[in-house]
Amino acid sequence: MLNFWNSSVGKKVVMGLTGLVLVGFVLGHMAGNLQIFMGPERYNAYARLLQHDIIEVTWAVRVALFVSVVLHALSAWQLTQRNWAARPVEYAVRESQVSTYASRTMRWGGVYLFVFLLLHLGQFTLGWKWLLPEYMPEGAYGNVVLAFGRPLWVVVYLVAMFFLLLHLFHGTWAVLRTLGVAEAKAEPLQRRLPLIIALVVTVGFSLVPLGVALGIVR
Ligand code: HEM
Repeated sequence: MLNFWNSSVGKKVVMGLTGLVLVGFVLGHMAGNLQIFMGPERYNAYARLLQHDIIEVTWAVRVALFVSVVLHALSAWQLTQRNWAARPVEYAVRESQVSTYASRTMRWGGVYLFVFLLLHLGQFTLGWKWLLPEYMPEGAYGNVVLAFGRPLWVVVYLVAMFFLLLHLFHGTWAVLRTLGVAEAKAEPLQRRLPLIIALVVTVGFSLVPLGVALGIVR
């Protein structure tokens, strides 16, 4: 087991499988969030389901998400360290065969998403007042409307969604490659499943801050 974790392939498999757990959550969370367009009652009911309706399920999901995020970030970090150690001096000329903008932003995009997640939890789940002074424990709808009433948060979220798009596009393709499901294709837009997942998640989430900013949700 330890041998597996110590190998680079093992870390890639761990990174991929934990990534899949996170994709599953993100798809469900996006669908749940779209209920904001059905009004406060419906949205608050979704938030209650997420937070405490069936407390055993809530905590099982939280532990699974926490473990997944930690292992995902740790394996990514350690693989990066290995890559850097293996090539301390940059290539004079870099001409990648199948590198895309998405693959090249995985590391720093991933760091942004991690910081975003901390701010997001502080704002909507933990109720940190410096992030959202009017936070109400049972008022998810109101919290979201107040947060996105501020342009700063709309921008922070939309930038996060942009990196999420790239991260999911490259990440879901990479995990399919690691597990041997997808074939190597040089043309990025032929990666149809990763493209669809990334677009659906990103557009779905983005509709929420945009809906508030445009006054459709208030
Ligand atoms: C526009 C985008 C999003 C909106 C409007 C949104 C909204 C919310 C709200 C209102 C809550 C708190 C629910 C409650 O406890 O009452 C929440 C919790 C959460 N969100 Fe989001 N979210 C968004 C995007 C994301 C993304 C992209 C991720 C992951 C990368 C994420 C991960 C989480 C997690 C892990 C929780 C905590 C669940 C728990 O309490 O166990 N969210 N979100």
